[in-house]
Amino acid sequence: MKRTNSQNIWLKRQNKDIFVKLSKAKGYRSRAAYKLIEINKKFKIINQNSKVVDLGASPGGWTQVVVELQNKKNQIIAIDKKKMEPVDNCKFIYNDISDFLKHDEVLERNYFDVILSDMAPNSSGHRFTDQANAEKVYYLAQSFAFKYLAKNGNFVCKFFRNSSEKTILQNIKKRFSFVKTFKPNSSRKDSKEIYLIAIGFNNLHKD
Ligand SMILES: C[S@@+](CC[C@H](N)C(=O)[O-])C[C@H]1O[C@@H](n2cnc3c(N)ncnc32)[C@H](O)[C@@H]1O
Repeated sequence: MKRTNSQNIWLKRQNKDIFVKLSKAKGYRSRAAYKLIEINKKFKIINQNSKVVDLGASPGGWTQVVVELQNKKNQIIAIDKKKMEPVDNCKFIYNDISDFLKHDEVLERNYFDVILSDMAPNSSGHRFTDQANAEKVYYLAQSFAFKYLAKNGNFVCKFFRNSSEKTILQNIKKRFSFVKTFKPNSSRKDSKEIYLIAIGFNNLHKD
């Protein structure tokens, strides 16, 4: 089958990309694994005993990194609306986070030490629609974190630079003792994605 021009550009970039090569060599399912490795190296958000939930986990690169960091005492919970091949020591929940939050009987509230979200909506090709969808996905992750984080827990969440960045940060700063944004080297320079790093959840009773 003949490739389109944009498929050719994507393929060329993939073949040259150092993080694609590294993830293949190390057996990670996605180059995204390196973003979490960088985040954890700098901010130490996950330790070997952390109870972790990974939102938007498929195909599983971040989940693999968390499992490697841990002593296997706690099972990591991974959730995605896309299926994922099993990862050792991980319980996978196949669901959309918006549905999960409506029927949240499965997980214990205010229990987890770390909530990770690398969730991203599919691109529609329309700038404003994409922006609105990205914001919706961010707020789903935020609601999840406010419900399930334990006191002093940490929240790491992808979001896309846009007009509501200031509001997002203002809100988050009220709930955590340390908040920063971070763009890992492994995040493509031309992508608007950035990661919110929020440490020390200090407000359990506002929702
Ligand atoms: C960039 S990928 C995550 C890559 C993953 N962190 C890794 O390292 O392999 C984004 C994922 O978010 C998921 N996602 C987006 N919106 C979602 C939602 N509302 N509920 C559950 N998963 C969602 C997508 O299905 C997709 O698998």
